[in-house]
This record gives sequence, C-alpha cells and structure tokens, in this order.
Amino acid sequence: MNILAFETSCDETAAAVVRDGRELLSSVVLSQAETHALYGGVVPEIAARSHLESMTPLTQQALREAGLSLRDIDAVAVTAAPGLIGALLVGVNYAKGLAMAMNAPLIPVHHLRAHIAAVYLEHPDLTPPFLAVVVSGGHTQIVCVESYTQYRVVGTTRDDAAGEALDKLARVLGLGYPGGAALSRLAEQGCDDAFILPNCRVDGHDADMSFSGVKTAAINLLHKARQKGETLSHADLAASFQRAVTDAIVSRVTGKFTAFCRDHDAPKAVLCGGVAANGRLRETLRAALGDSLHIPSVYLCGDNAAMVGAQAYYEFCAGNTASWDLNAAASFPLDGPWNALCQAGNIS
Ligand code: KG4
Ligand code: ZN
Repeated sequence: MNILAFETSCDETAAAVVRDGRELLSSVVLSQAETHALYGGVVPEIAARSHLESMTPLTQQALREAGLSLRDIDAVAVTAAPGLIGALLVGVNYAKGLAMAMNAPLIPVHHLRAHIAAVYLEHPDLTPPFLAVVVSGGHTQIVCVESYTQYRVVGTTRDDAAGEALDKLARVLGLGYPGGAALSRLAEQGCDDAFILPNCRVDGHDADMSFSGVKTAAINLLHKARQKGETLSHADLAASFQRAVTDAIVSRVTGKFTAFCRDHDAPKAVLCGGVAANGRLRETLRAALGDSLHIPSVYLCGDNAAMVGAQAYYEFCAGNTASWDLNAAASFPLDGPWNALCQAGNIS
C-alpha cells in the first residue's frame, strides 16, 4: 500500500511516500526555520501561509522522487494533531481535497505517534510492545507502546518540553532559533560540571520531569553575571545545562525500562523526536540501555512526513480513517481516543 503523507504541524512543510509502513520511497522537508529565526520563534500565521505556498511543489517533488504518479497512491495521510492550529489546518485541508479528488482513504495521524513510527522505517524487525521516549520541542513523554495504535503514557514533563528549554537558553545565549542543535555544538567545547544546576525531578513521581526550574536557574546565572560585569563561559553553561536535561531524561527512562523488563520477555526501547538528534542524549541512553535501544537516523528525528506515512499504515490497518468532516486539534493526548477525532467534525 503506497501512502502519500503530509506534515505541517509547526514550521516544517513535508511530504513523503511510504510503502506498507516500513519502506521509505521518498521524503522531502522544507524548513521555515530561517524565516522564523528573524522573530526568535515560530510566528503561527507565517507558518500557515508558508505551508500553503509549499504544499503542491513538495507533493510533486515527493512523487517524482518516488518514481510514482498520483495514480499509484492508495491513501493520503496527514498530521491532524497536536500542533499550531493554523498550520495543521493547511495540511489537513490539502490532504482532504486530494483524497476526495482521488477517491482515496484519508488517514489522520497523531504527531507524536508519528515520531515513534519513524523507527519502523529503519528497523524492520522492531514491533510493539516497546517503551518509547518522545523528546521534541513541544513534548517530552515516556510511553508504553502496547500495539501500533495503543499507548500508555507513563511519564511526562510537568512544564516545559526538553526541546523548548534548550531553545530558550539558546536564545538567551544568542544562538538563534531553534537553538537546540547550536547549543549542543557549543556544549562540546564546555565543561559539563562547571555549574551545579537544580535537578529536574518531580517529588513523588519518579517518571515525571520538570525543565522550567533548571532553565530559569541557567538564565539567571547568565543575567547575574552580565549585571555584575563578569564573564561566564557560555560553553560551560551550555554543557552543564545539556547534561542536566539529558541526565534527567535518561534516569527517568532507565527507571521505567527496568520496570518494563520485568513484564516483557524481549524488552525494547525507542528514542525519538527532534531532540533525539542530540549526540549526548543518544550516547548516554545507549550506554544505559545497550542494544535494546532503537534510535532513528538524525534525518528522521526532526519533523518529517516519512514518519507520518509509517504510522498512517498502521492507523489504516486499525480502521482509523477519517470522515470528510475531519477537523484538526491543537492538542490531543497521545493515548487519547484517536478514532474519535477521525470521525468527529468539531474538535478544536
Ligand atoms: O520534533 P521536532 O522537530 O519538532 C516538534 O515536534 O517540536 O523537535 C524540535 C526540537 C527543537 O527544540 C530543536 O531545538 C530540537 O528539537 N533539536 C535539538 C537538536 N536538533 C533539534 N536539540 C538538541 N540537540 C540537537 N542536536
Ligand atoms: Zn515533532
């Protein structure tokens, strides 16, 4: 089954063709990051308008690179939640129009389910159940993936997402937007125990995390040094902060994985989402979990449509296709009733 998939939930416009959930035929991603960098963050209306301009050229490119035409496409998939509502609406409406004209099924996909599914494209033998950690700019969650379409969130951030916290410190350090990757490069030149930062624990909840306090502490250190006219090593602060964030994630995941191992014969884990591109996070979690850990290649960690096409196949197999009154939702829990969104018209 060839699925043409779209992703427009934030500031990447993406189209891809995926066969049977596992075989990537083409994937094109157009990042708007440079445009939004001028404003220090994503401007929702600009994001939506840029998606609108790019959808058709990207669709044509994805088909061309797959060596297929629309006649070879069996279904159309699109991210329908969560994300910036104006940005999502562009993708959903484009996919809906295309599916209707082609008389093909329309498959809505949850953005975080798609991040997890990115791993299916490179690990043909990996099947649920497994423990997944999704670390992105908007979310940080530890999830028990019970089947291709059944999830149980077992840990989450109580405030900022890890990527959001990295981006905020990066902005204050003058590293631009989104600054996660730049902060990580700067951290390579610094000493990761130069600053003692608050831990990211949530008392009484051993799988939950909090990144807001550590972010504020790091920014305060910088502001205080500036006020006193002192110099503070940006590289040391970046390295200490990256260590605090990644160590918090790794300790929560290893704790949950130990429990997961007790209930499963061949326990496996997955690291995914934009922040999964981070070298330190990849290495430390690999050191903790060894070969049980599966991580997508860096190009499949950030937002893309290939992961949407992968998850869409399994949503289709579970009967989660949309009616023509499909709407988008700015927020929707990963373990929520996805089939209800597929069939209901007016969720906002
Ligand atoms: O999944 P994603 O592309 O978009 C969302 O769904 O949010 O994740 C974007 C996040 C941003 O916060 C970005 O700074 C972060 O991923 N990121 C990184 C790296 N590459 C991207 N963070 C740390 N190290 C990286 N190498
Ligand atoms: Zn994402």
